[in-house]
Amino acid sequence: TDTSDFKPETWTQSSNEHLKVSLVDGDKPVIQFSPQFTYPIFGTDETIFGFKDLLIHLAFDSVTLTPFVNVKFSAKMDDSVDERKVLDSLTRVLPANDYTVKDESQWVNKIEAERRVFQLPDEKFKVCEYTLDGEQFVVYKLKLSESDYFKRLHRRIQIFTLLFIEGASYIDENEPNWEIFWAFNKDTHNCVGYATTYKYWYYGSASEFDTEKSHRYRSKISQYIVLPPYQSKGHGSKLYQSIYTTWFQNVQIVEVTVEDPNEEFDDLRDRNDLKMLEENKFFEALNEQTPVEGFIDDSWLQRTRTQFKLEKRQFSRLVEMSLLHLQK
Ligand code: ACO
Repeated sequence: TDTSDFKPETWTQSSNEHLKVSLVDGDKPVIQFSPQFTYPIFGTDETIFGFKDLLIHLAFDSVTLTPFVNVKFSAKMDDSVDERKVLDSLTRVLPANDYTVKDESQWVNKIEAERRVFQLPDEKFKVCEYTLDGEQFVVYKLKLSESDYFKRLHRRIQIFTLLFIEGASYIDENEPNWEIFWAFNKDTHNCVGYATTYKYWYYGSASEFDTEKSHRYRSKISQYIVLPPYQSKGHGSKLYQSIYTTWFQNVQIVEVTVEDPNEEFDDLRDRNDLKMLEENKFFEALNEQTPVEGFIDDSWLQRTRTQFKLEKRQFSRLVEMSLLHLQK
């Protein structure tokens, strides 16, 4: 015992710093990173009290996402603190009976057994393929009800939403309208990222509603994650493009929306929407519009917006950015 042991700060540790998240891939070096948020797991202060040199490990196999947890420390303040409570806070948000605690060899055996039978989703769920830095990736779209195995993978990976998206909470699995877009490395089968999306019935106007033969929907991107080791390489853009294109080609979907985008996602969305508009000669068309008293014809804007299935607020932002760009 030294004198610092009597100070509370000696025993107070930041849960954001002391929770270490890792992805393991056989014999390759383990990739470790820190979470952005831990308040949904360890409370609003994001601190854990009572331990010295606390280390909370949360590891995943990079293909099957099989989770592993362990808690280590060098000293406890007194007998009132219990590492099992720390562990419970974490396992509470992991899939029940589908994680390994402490026993690494048991975890490795579980991964090996699962990898032996692992298969990417059926071809019928594939929405696109793309190449980045010479590697091939593939994107699938599945409802939770369409594969028990990928439903299980979603239960394993969903903790990433708590760790990396502010204000996130788990989706309701019993809602049939959720569709998940998954991005995988085609050869290694490493999971690169995923997005949860939701379809809302779009009512339109009452007269339209009466005459409409098929139902129409507004689709929403809800939770969007590129796993940390794969960020800033272009996967975020590729996944977004594949979601947008899937919905653009679906006549039942009238509008693409995003739930509470953060700054990074807004940026990703703007860059990709502008690129898409440019490819469709939007800038030229906008340039040909003659503003009347400083305003561009509203019905043209409205037509163009619905043609590209963009949300009002997002489309206004894009028009504004385009006008600034054209003025240069
Ligand atoms: N070399 C260098 N930089 C590159 C390359 C490359 N080959 N490719 C892209 N970049 C840059 C982009 O220009 C961009 O730079 P900028 O941020 O300075 O504009 C940056 O990398 C990110 O672009 P992408 O690589 O396409 O996107 P990424 O794969 O990193 O995904 C995302 C972005 C989704 C925000 C990811 O970082 C993430 O999952 N973050 C944590 C969770 C999160 O915030 N999710 C969104 C919440 S909002 C919601 O869910 C609706």
